[in-house]
Amino acid sequence: MIDVLLYEVSPRDGLQNEKDFVDTDIKIELINKLSETGLKKIEATSFVSPKWVPQLADNLDVMRAIKRSNSVTYSALTPNLKGFYAAIGADVREVAVFAAASESFSKKNINCSISESIERFRPLMAMAKENNIAVRGYVSCVTHCPYEGAVDPKQVMKVSKLLLDMGCYEISLGDTTGQATSKEIKDLLLLIRNSFPIENFALHCHDTYGQAIANILTGLELGIRTIDSSVAALGGCPYAKGASGNVATEDVLYLLNGLGLNTGIDLDKIIDTAWFISNKLGRVPNSKISLTKRCS
Ligand code: HMG
Ligand code: MG
Repeated sequence: MIDVLLYEVSPRDGLQNEKDFVDTDIKIELINKLSETGLKKIEATSFVSPKWVPQLADNLDVMRAIKRSNSVTYSALTPNLKGFYAAIGADVREVAVFAAASESFSKKNINCSISESIERFRPLMAMAKENNIAVRGYVSCVTHCPYEGAVDPKQVMKVSKLLLDMGCYEISLGDTTGQATSKEIKDLLLLIRNSFPIENFALHCHDTYGQAIANILTGLELGIRTIDSSVAALGGCPYAKGASGNVATEDVLYLLNGLGLNTGIDLDKIIDTAWFISNKLGRVPNSKISLTKRCS
């Protein structure tokens, strides 16, 4: 039995922001290595427009070539029906739709308003139900928007409810800019807990302001049991200027191990994988734990 589920997003959120194209073979090897660490969820790629995110244009090749483990669910982002059909054609069994709590971010990220995005997801949800595909929902900019500043928590509640009502099994709350403070996360989760089962929520923290681990600890204290993370703290969002990497999987794992919470994941294998992908990208992992381990 695991206590906390880590949802690994490095192959998707981690790589989507890389300027230079990362070879398809490297992406495949990254996912294969992640599959051997004990992770149960790996967001492998996106079926979005290749004009918007050229880095993930090799989605089909990646999904076809990875060595799938029976204990891992490989998911992919799908912004619309076109992406959904491509994903199920590549034998993806879990997809994620992504909305935002901020109108400006929605427009920049997926070129439509929040309500248009919800309408766009409806036929996708119907097809997912028909094909027995689980759908996760993201809500970006849960506290801050790179274009509008502070975000009203009521807006997060409203979008989360729409996504849950249409059939998403879980909402991943995205601190897209990494600006959220522990108090803001606490206030938001207290509000959410009043209206929804907290088991239906995950936290997705970017570490731009160095607050991710503090925010995750706050989330754990309030009942969050699914955490999104990315080896070597790879990542960013092409439509949130300045957003740095996601929180490092190895850092979250160290926190959870210290709290005695079981994840079923091998920290040394995660660190090896963080070094593998960092070496391929010509840098060192953006995680003190990975740096310390390699130095000792
Ligand atoms: P659009 O330009 O408004 O779409 O983009 P469109 O329907 O007018 O189509 C334009 C062209 O794109 C057409 O091709 C379509 O066929 C094609 P053309 O006729 O010009 O050759 N197209 C597609 N091609 C492949 N796959 C598809 C697809 N859909 C249309 N699925 C669209 C709208 C949503 C497609 C676009 O805005 C898009 O792809 N956006 C994705 C942006 C993205 O991936 N952002 C990063 C992920 S979100 C994130 O990182 C945040 C998160 O991590 C949480 C957090 O941190 O907060 C999740
Ligand atoms: Mg993200």
